[in-house]
Amino acid sequence: MSPARSAEAGPEGRGLTASPGHAADGAVPGRVTDDPGARAQAPGSPAIHAIELRKRYRRTVALDGLSMSVERGEVFGFLGPNGAGKTTAVKLLLGLVRPSGGEAMVLGAPAGDLQTRRRIGYLPELFRYQSWLTAREVLVLHCRLRRLPRPRWAGAVDDALRIVGLSGRGDDRVGTFSKGMQQRLGLGVALLGEPELVVLDEPTSALDPVGRHDVRTIIRALRDRGTTVFLNTHLLAEAEHVCDRVAIISRGRSVATGSLAELKAARPSVRLRVGGLADGWWERLAGFGRWTPDGDWLLVEDMAAGRVPDLVGSIVSLGGQVEAVIPEQQTLEERFLELLEEK
Ligand SMILES: Nc1ncnc2c1ncn2[C@@H]1O[C@H](COP(=O)(O)OP(=O)(O)OP(=O)(O)O)[C@@H](O)[C@H]1O
Ligand SMILES: [Mg+2]
Repeated sequence: MSPARSAEAGPEGRGLTASPGHAADGAVPGRVTDDPGARAQAPGSPAIHAIELRKRYRRTVALDGLSMSVERGEVFGFLGPNGAGKTTAVKLLLGLVRPSGGEAMVLGAPAGDLQTRRRIGYLPELFRYQSWLTAREVLVLHCRLRRLPRPRWAGAVDDALRIVGLSGRGDDRVGTFSKGMQQRLGLGVALLGEPELVVLDEPTSALDPVGRHDVRTIIRALRDRGTTVFLNTHLLAEAEHVCDRVAIISRGRSVATGSLAELKAARPSVRLRVGGLADGWWERLAGFGRWTPDGDWLLVEDMAAGRVPDLVGSIVSLGGQVEAVIPEQQTLEERFLELLEEK
């Protein structure tokens, strides 16, 4: 029996598991790398390293030279608007579709390597389980697909049900589950067997606020035990709550990468209260950023990073008396929208 299929999830349905016979149309066929040299270098290598990944679907360019690196043990947010290429990138990294160009290494092995896929947990964006199976049966099925040793099944299933808050519903059929409960079950499947890398594609899309909070707690717990988490989302708040670093992706390319603090500080704004500036100051200071008077204050936006001390020094050298300098914290949303507009 194989998991139910969805158009998006591909024939593997939801399990990123060792099922060599299940290669999809366009999926990388059972490519097993048994190069011990490649595996020996795995622990020191990044969790994910992609170089100039490209994917074209007929006339649509879904990925247009995506490069990025995800360190082991970090929670990495992959942020972008609808259609940016997030899900396509995940499918390429997992070997569910074949790239049109570029290359990627995942846990030290070429993307799609079947042995490595057993060390990855995956929650697809869209998936559906057989409605007649109970939650426990779905989890056992995925223990088998993942090739977990049979003595570990019961413990792994109980752990997964507990972690995602479905302990009381393990013997109920999936067909009786709400959308959010199915998403919780999908997350439970992704966590089976303590994978080294967990890839979550929009894990909270069907969840209520309690469920979203629970997922954040689960992600933090994964990080605490050293698991790498790759989180696809367009919910910026979700990224702000849990991600160590993020990449912002637009039209198939990464347009910015860094910690949230770095991204927000990349184009700082500052609010100034200044007296005594001589005529002609404007020409001398205009180049620091975009100036807007705001009552007694001046707002300088879109500055180059690290230029606030220079700005203050220049004002003083022009005879200005600087009464107050207040850095304005840009929100992730403002920076996100700016980056998308720039491209
Ligand atoms: N199987 C496919 N056939 C043709 N085009 C596709 C296919 N899968 C994705 N695309 C196209 O590739 C682009 C990127 O899609 P993708 O699903 O990767 O975006 P996304 O960033 O995950 O978006 P969302 O936030 O809506 O999930 C889109 O233009 C989409 O229409
Ligand atoms: Mg998507």
